[in-house]
Amino acid sequence: EGTGGGLPVGLDYETVPVNNTDAITVPPGYRSNVVIRWGDPIVDGAPEFDFANQTPEAQAQQFGYNNDFCGVLPLDGDRLVMFNNHEYTIEPLMFAGYDEENPTETQVRIGMAAHGLSVHVVERDPATGEMRAVLDPLNRRYTATSEFRLTGPAAGSALLQTSADPTGTRVLGTLNNCAGGVTPWGTFLSGEENFNQYFANAASVVDPAVLARAERYGITEEASERKWERFDPRFDMLAEPNEPNRFGWIVEVDPQDPTATPVKRTALGRFKHEGATIHLAADGRAVAYMGDDERFDYVYKYVSNAAVREGNTRAAREANATLLDDGTLYVARFTGNSPATEITGDGALPADGAFDGTGEWIKLAAGTESFVPGMSAEEVYVFTRQAADVVGATKMDRPEDVEANPVTGRVYIALTNNTDRGTEGAAGPDEANPRTENAHGHVVEFEEDGGDAAAGAFSWRILLVCGDPEDPSTYFAGFDKSQVSPITSPDNLAFDGHGNLWISTDSGRALEVAGTPAGINDGLYGVSLEGETRGRTALFATVPNGAECCGPVVTDEFVLISPQHPGDLDGASTETPQSTWPDGPGSQPRPSVVNIWREGEGGRPGRIGE
Ligand code: FEO
Ligand code: CA
Ligand code: CA
Ligand code: CA
Repeated sequence: EGTGGGLPVGLDYETVPVNNTDAITVPPGYRSNVVIRWGDPIVDGAPEFDFANQTPEAQAQQFGYNNDFCGVLPLDGDRLVMFNNHEYTIEPLMFAGYDEENPTETQVRIGMAAHGLSVHVVERDPATGEMRAVLDPLNRRYTATSEFRLTGPAAGSALLQTSADPTGTRVLGTLNNCAGGVTPWGTFLSGEENFNQYFANAASVVDPAVLARAERYGITEEASERKWERFDPRFDMLAEPNEPNRFGWIVEVDPQDPTATPVKRTALGRFKHEGATIHLAADGRAVAYMGDDERFDYVYKYVSNAAVREGNTRAAREANATLLDDGTLYVARFTGNSPATEITGDGALPADGAFDGTGEWIKLAAGTESFVPGMSAEEVYVFTRQAADVVGATKMDRPEDVEANPVTGRVYIALTNNTDRGTEGAAGPDEANPRTENAHGHVVEFEEDGGDAAAGAFSWRILLVCGDPEDPSTYFAGFDKSQVSPITSPDNLAFDGHGNLWISTDSGRALEVAGTPAGINDGLYGVSLEGETRGRTALFATVPNGAECCGPVVTDEFVLISPQHPGDLDGASTETPQSTWPDGPGSQPRPSVVNIWREGEGGRPGRIGE
């Protein structure tokens, strides 16, 4: 299937040049509008955003900070319910005169309220293409202090009990929610990622077992970055050594039920969850693909025991509500098939012409049964990284989104970068992670055996080795490198209805190319996967200065992106903002959701990429 221009359907737009412009840039013939910004009212009665007079109470009713994942589900007519993760806060960009050593209690409590999740309704105008957030009874915020339920095989474990929650089943808050997924049964998933940064005094913990477990998860500091421990002792490990064990989970939210308590699913393991995406096995069971975003960490999957029940009946909803509590957790091992595995300065491929091989899914635990020597099932779920260490999983270059193509079933892994690969004391290159000091990341494609997402083995190959196409160590699936967009640090993945891959990036201007010596702004790229254009990357949109491009959603009618942390460049503060997006000159930058559409006949919206 192709267009007149020889490009796959859905990718026939004029490539956006790399740039460092403080704006949303889209192809000619496309338009954009801001759907919702940090501080916009979510709940009926919420005050309008007032940068100079913020309060925790107002923030808890407004759109949070640094929205990352964005998912949508259809409601009725032109209305959709949108779900956003508010990953973290950047206090120097949120508060004038912020003192990092001595935050005020009000600033801390605003920060807590600016974390978490938003559920809210958006409405698309079919005549103009614009999309706006609207107030609705479904709208709600979850923050760092909202109640969550722990469910699944580790719920109630002694490892999850605290003085405030001797049951080990009720947690206050969700933290550092990065990417996520939309399930076929109508819920949203959200990954708790770098939760380590909220916990203080790990360095003073004396119990060597507690200390070793904390260190494997990167909890190593005395004072935490945001000093929350000064106002809430559960963030002090000396007071509550188990509190960190209650973060690092996959969260599931039912958008249809504003009164339901959201859940943290222990069966999916605990690590720095980038996110979780669902694909159905041949027999209808739910398979969740997941990455642990840390240098040299792992790719996981979970397979439910029950099949997804179709339909929107009460019985189906109740059955599907436990799919992610009862199943098997696996970790991936990748085995290359070539002796020479490193991609080098001359860009030579292995003798068989590909970085490729086979892989297996190693069982970690199922229900109360552990498959890891020396660890109970509860320990496997709560300290999943150590379990994967024991079984010899493959250490990857920071696994971010892992997501199956709904058209082909092939699965893609964004490996964002790993500058430590091959350096002294660290693991060297292997065929699945072939670049030493991998500054720009790569993308791996795999096929489950028999095309079944529940399979125990797979075959894989590298699709992209990212960077400046002028750099010989880059690889674009063999496509003509003079015809591709430079790309670095792939983070989030999405697919359109035609089976094209879309990649959004998070680089902190890590890639300098001719014409943009300060480094290129992040963006969203359409990527061909089939035929003669396989491996072609074409930049579709770029985000403002200092922002990363998160939360891509690509449909035939609209594209959504989430410019996260605009203005976050070295030395930025409210006094020296390095972006004034989206409100313009004289304003402070605000993380937001952006809607992009194509102008069609007579001013009505056309179809994306055609
Ligand atoms: Fe929050 Fe892995 O990016
Ligand atoms: Ca090979
Ligand atoms: Ca991410
Ligand atoms: Ca990111």
